[in-house]
Amino acid sequence: MNNPSNQKLVVVTGASSGIGLALVKALLAEGYAVLGIAKSFEKAGLNHPNFSGRSINLADLDGLPEAMSLLLNEIDRPIKALINNAGIGRMGFLEQLSVKDIRLVMDTNLTSQVIVTKTFLPLLKKQGEGDILFMGSEAALKGARQGSIYCASKFALRGFSQALREECGKSGVRITLINPGAVRTPFFEKLQFEPGLAAENAIEPEDIASAVSMVLAARSGTVFDEITLSPRNQVWKKKD
Ligand SMILES: NC(=O)c1ccc[n+]([C@@H]2O[C@H](COP(=O)([O-])OP(=O)(O)OC[C@H]3O[C@@H](n4cnc5c(N)ncnc54)[C@H](OP(=O)(O)O)[C@@H]3O)[C@@H](O)[C@H]2O)c1
Repeated sequence: MNNPSNQKLVVVTGASSGIGLALVKALLAEGYAVLGIAKSFEKAGLNHPNFSGRSINLADLDGLPEAMSLLLNEIDRPIKALINNAGIGRMGFLEQLSVKDIRLVMDTNLTSQVIVTKTFLPLLKKQGEGDILFMGSEAALKGARQGSIYCASKFALRGFSQALREECGKSGVRITLINPGAVRTPFFEKLQFEPGLAAENAIEPEDIASAVSMVLAARSGTVFDEITLSPRNQVWKKKD
C-alpha cells in the first residue's frame, strides 16, 4: 500500500466477493486506501497499489481480538470508515439447522462485527470523526420463513447499530446501517434459491457502493441512520 500520510483508509470486511468487492473497487476509484478482510482473497483478483488484504476468519471468535489488535497496530494513517460487511446465510426451517450452523451465522453476522467494531472504536473516537457502517438486510426489518437465524442475526445487528449510534454521536463517529433486499452476488451459491434473472429482480452490488459513497460524503453534522434498498420488482427463483 502506498503511504501518503493524508490518504484516508477504509477498512472493509467481506472484501473478497459480492458487495464487499464492489465497495473496495468503488473506494479505490474514489482515492481511498482500502484494507480488506476475508477468509481468502484468491478469487478476488484485486491488484491495486492502494489495496491490502488480510486473511482473517472472523468466525474464529477466540482468535479474533488478537488478530484485530495486530491489525490495528499496522494502521499508519487516518481511518475514514470501517465497513462491517462480511456475512453468511444458512436458510431452512429451524429444525433443519444444526447448532453448528446457528453458531456460525450468529458468530459471523453479529458477534464478530461487535468485536471488530470494539477494536476500532477507540481510535475513531480519538480521531473525533469516522464512519462505521453495517451491512444489515431486509431481514433486519421483517422476519421471513426459513430465515429465522439469519433474521435473528440481522435484527440483532440493527439493535446494536442503533444503540451504538446513541453512544457515539457526541464523539463525532457516525453509525449507518444499510438494509438491502436481494443483491446479485455469490451469496446465493450455497442456497436453494436466488433472485429472478430480470435486471429489476435484484440490486447490483455497485448500487450498494453508490449508497455507501453517499454516506461517506455526507456533511459531518448529518448521519444516515439507515438506508433501505430494494429491487424494483423482487422475485425469488427456486433452484432446480
Ligand atoms: N446478497 C444479498 O442478497 C444480500 C442482501 C442483504 C444483505 N446482504 C449482506 O451483505 C453482506 C455481503 O454479502 P454478499 O452478498 O456480498 O455475499 P458474498 O458474495 O458471499 O460475500 C461474503 C463476504 O463475506 C466474507 N466472509 C464470510 N464469512 C467470513 C468469515 N468467517 N471470515 C471472514 N470473511 C468472511 C466472504 O469472504 P470469504 O469468501 O473469504 O469467506 C466474502 O468476502 C452480508 O453481510 C450479507 O448478509 C446480502
